[in-house]
Amino acid sequence: MTRRETVSFDDLVARQTPDMSLERPFYTDRSIFERDIERIVSRQWLFVDHVSAIPKAGDYVLYEVAGESIVAVRGRDGVVRAFYNVCRHRGSRICLEPRGNLRTLTCPYHAWVYDLEGSLIHAPLMAGDFDKRDWPLHPCRVSVREGLIFIALAEDVETARLDEAMEALGPYASPYELAGAKAIHTATYPTDANWKLAVENFRECYHCASAHPEYTMVNAYVNDGAREPEKRARAVRDWVSEWESRGVVARDLRAWGDSMEAVQPFGAFRQPIREGYWTLSEDGRPVAPLMGRLEEWDKGETLMIFGPLFYVYLANDHATLFRFTPVGERHTEVVVSWLVRGDAEEGRDYDVDRVIWMWDVTTVEDTKIINDNQLGVNSRRYAPGRYSEREYGTRNFVAWYLTQHGGKTAGPGPPTMGQ
Ligand code: FES
Ligand SMILES: [Fe+2]
Repeated sequence: MTRRETVSFDDLVARQTPDMSLERPFYTDRSIFERDIERIVSRQWLFVDHVSAIPKAGDYVLYEVAGESIVAVRGRDGVVRAFYNVCRHRGSRICLEPRGNLRTLTCPYHAWVYDLEGSLIHAPLMAGDFDKRDWPLHPCRVSVREGLIFIALAEDVETARLDEAMEALGPYASPYELAGAKAIHTATYPTDANWKLAVENFRECYHCASAHPEYTMVNAYVNDGAREPEKRARAVRDWVSEWESRGVVARDLRAWGDSMEAVQPFGAFRQPIREGYWTLSEDGRPVAPLMGRLEEWDKGETLMIFGPLFYVYLANDHATLFRFTPVGERHTEVVVSWLVRGDAEEGRDYDVDRVIWMWDVTTVEDTKIINDNQLGVNSRRYAPGRYSEREYGTRNFVAWYLTQHGGKTAGPGPPTMGQ
């Protein structure tokens, strides 16, 4: 006879060990997934897309997240707004395609028409006392920073948090002028795993040498950091001093470690790529013109973190944006976009395949290992396992996650970043 163990969620959170992966229900249970949406996803500023995805009036993209469908649309005044994709008549979805260009937002059900600013402008055969002004689309909070479109679902997500993040990250990002850059490729990597497995994987490079031959070839730190961590740390420090002497903001900005309570921790980290490598490309040679107002190749890469679900990697000639969207308890959507400077021309200045090579091949590999991780975790025999010293980024993420769910704060782990 089996006896079903009943443990409250709070007890389950309390009995997790910060230096170990989580118990199985955190990766498989529907009700915990729903708590994650409520407690974590809905309280973040969520990255939607880069502004270059909707350059003209009427251009829109949909973002499906937390059971909502959000339309981000550029108005005739050039302003990017966001609305819930819910008709005010009887609630139909309005935009059905993931992206496109529209003159108006017209509901396919009974043809109510909204303008690009969300006002209802046409509603056929309504009674005389019906006032269209009372029925605009429900707005969604939106903020565009450095060309990055963010939305927030909960009403009490503070704009100050985004201000704080952008102020801290601005010096790292501003020389790259992301607002003037353009997306040249976007790829979706559907992942059959809980979002935390996808994020845990993204935040450590313990797996890189075995799973990512291409990434490991480009990024010297993978093997140098494993074999001679002290020597690698000294080399990074030397580079940071050298960069700073030339006015490049390069010092490690902590995320996950200093504050486990922060709802949306942010941080930045900068390191050299590899001797003889200008950028994150197959042969190390540049793949596009220098971004923004950079005037020289400093041969570094910068990682910026905006909470658990959005990351930006900057190389001197391109940026790679990673958006993680929890879809179901065993499904996550990973979307990667690549940006180059806005005036670069395909064929002359860049070749898409060369720009996307490293992160595309690496993300395909990651999808496979994350899926296999979920399959193993599904087993009744799965039990939490111990993190290596190289998985401090994952350890800190999991400790932060438990704190967000009311667990007692585990205290910061050693260094800051994932990879
Ligand atoms: S539900 Fe949209 S017009 Fe009826
Ligand atoms: Fe990976």
